Amino acid sequence: MRYFKPSLTLLLTLAAGSTAQSIVDLLEGTPELSNLTSIAVMYPDLITTLSGASNITILAPNNKAFSDAMKMMPAAMAKNTEYIRSLLTYHVLNGTYRAVGFGDDSRFLPTLLTDKKFANLTAGDSQVVKAILMDDHASVYSGLNKTSMVSRADTYFTGGVVHIIDSVLTLPMNVSTTAIAANLTAVAGALAQANLVTTVDTLTSITVFAPSNPAFQAIGNLVGGLSNKQLASILTYHVVPDRAFTSDLTNNQKLRTIQGEELTIRLDDGDVYVNGAKVVASDVITNNGVVHVIDGVLNPNATNDEPDTGASTQAPAFPSATGSSDVPFTSGVLTPTGSRINTSSPSATSSGTGAQPNSAGSITGNVVIAVIGAALAFAAGIMV
Ligand SMILES: *[C@@H]1O[C@H](CO)[C@@H](O)[C@H](O)[C@H]1NC(C)=O
Ligand SMILES: *[C@@H]1O[C@H](CO)[C@@H](O)[C@H](O)[C@H]1NC(C)=O
Ligand SMILES: *[C@@H]1O[C@H](CO)[C@@H](O)[C@H](O)[C@H]1NC(C)=O
Ligand SMILES: *[C@@H]1O[C@H](CO)[C@@H](O)[C@H](O)[C@H]1NC(C)=O
Ligand SMILES: *[C@@H]1O[C@H](CO)[C@@H](O)[C@H](O)[C@H]1NC(C)=O
Ligand SMILES: *[C@@H]1O[C@H](CO)[C@@H](O)[C@H](O)[C@H]1NC(C)=O
Ligand SMILES: *[C@@H]1O[C@H](CO)[C@@H](O)[C@H](O)[C@H]1NC(C)=O
Ligand SMILES: *[C@@H]1O[C@H](CO)[C@@H](O)[C@H](O)[C@H]1NC(C)=O
Ligand SMILES: *[C@@H]1O[C@H](CO)[C@@H](O)[C@H](O)[C@H]1NC(C)=O
Repeated sequence: MRYFKPSLTLLLTLAAGSTAQSIVDLLEGTPELSNLTSIAVMYPDLITTLSGASNITILAPNNKAFSDAMKMMPAAMAKNTEYIRSLLTYHVLNGTYRAVGFGDDSRFLPTLLTDKKFANLTAGDSQVVKAILMDDHASVYSGLNKTSMVSRADTYFTGGVVHIIDSVLTLPMNVSTTAIAANLTAVAGALAQANLVTTVDTLTSITVFAPSNPAFQAIGNLVGGLSNKQLASILTYHVVPDRAFTSDLTNNQKLRTIQGEELTIRLDDGDVYVNGAKVVASDVITNNGVVHVIDGVLNPNATNDEPDTGASTQAPAFPSATGSSDVPFTSGVLTPTGSRINTSSPSATSSGTGAQPNSAGSITGNVVIAVIGAALAFAAGIMV
């Protein structure tokens, strides 16, 4: 990215009522935020809005964060003002949240991001970041489970508070991209086979309980015999037309799915279960809701399936299921690193470089970089 250098003070003068300790004073007085300042001045209306705002929190990436982000960002992307504007707006929280207020349990804090292209949520739902305070360290999770640490908390300005963070947040992406980044290739492939990708990617404010690859392997003998109608019925039974973070869930809660039948939530000793399946990785924010990874495939014909909360793994919800060594539905599915899985070629799935997510669906390292590259290219594509 090339930085322009219009005078920030000039922009401030143009902006409404500059007072002492304005956000602009704060930015100009903080050398480690000079890259953020250089980018922000390219969006004078944003500066005006922030200068006039009260009761906001700014997550301000430091210069190291920007230099890391720019290494991954294709040039076309850096020039995509619509994308950069949404990305910057995602760093502004609606409310004053001191780092001590983040809390030991995850809190989902509303941001000012409203562009439907990047946050397709129903009226009343704000796009969020997940904030957590653990052992006195505040951190923030964004799209694709990107983790940013707060390196300097609680600097006040007239409109609220700034936390300096060590990496740029990731804009939440659609469900299919998020699934692939999490190595949830079986559910990604199953959605494609059942023609449901567009549905899950474009519904607003949803919760997706995404079975892990081992969950699909555990019913491996059955998947070949499913009609597309049955597969669609099973998959839509994993989608709830409301956004529910794990902190929203209550014991014995019933959630109506888009398939029509209900799911039952159970909370036990800090663990969350959906029917007979356990949530093994939770609260990955997408552009239209949230994804939780579960260790079993849910069966719409077994709505009374219950967990064995003492067990380390749950029995499949499908009678007569037996496991397979192959991961179903994955032929032709993109891997997190962008290569396509070739089920006839065992080596094909390991052609990527660097860190890989684990089979539980967590997202790590280079996987995220590869997917961000794809997503940035996508966002660049919608520009011109
Ligand atoms: C970005 O930060 C680096 C230090 O990390 C600095 O050398 C560079 O001048 C900064 N660029 C701008 C435009 O502020
Ligand atoms: C600040 O914003 C938060 C979140 O929108 C809201 O709950 C709170 O009432 C606001 N406080 C003030 C003083 O406006
Ligand atoms: C910020 O929160 C307030 C409630 O505290 C709400 O009225 C307002 O619409 C929110 N702004 C945005 C941009 O979401
Ligand atoms: C946003 O949601 C609406 C309603 O579900 C859908 O028609 C539209 O395609 C979605 N837009 C994006 C960018 O996903
Ligand atoms: C559920 O049961 C009905 C009635 O036996 C059957 O038609 C349907 O295919 C079953 N669905 C699945 C997903 O197996
Ligand atoms: C998949 O792997 C097999 C065996 O290595 C190979 O013969 C075949 O050409 C590959 N297919 C694709 C699409 O790469
Ligand atoms: C990703 O999923 C595939 C298929 O289940 C599996 O073979 C691979 O080991 C997983 N990657 C990691 C690092 O767990
Ligand atoms: C998100 O990342 C954290 C650590 O950074 C990890 O503990 C958690 O399991 C991850 N969640 C998912 C869904 O990958
Ligand atoms: C989901 O996002 C990816 C890029 O991140 C894009 O290629 C794909 O078209 C999107 N899916 C839909 C249905 O819009």
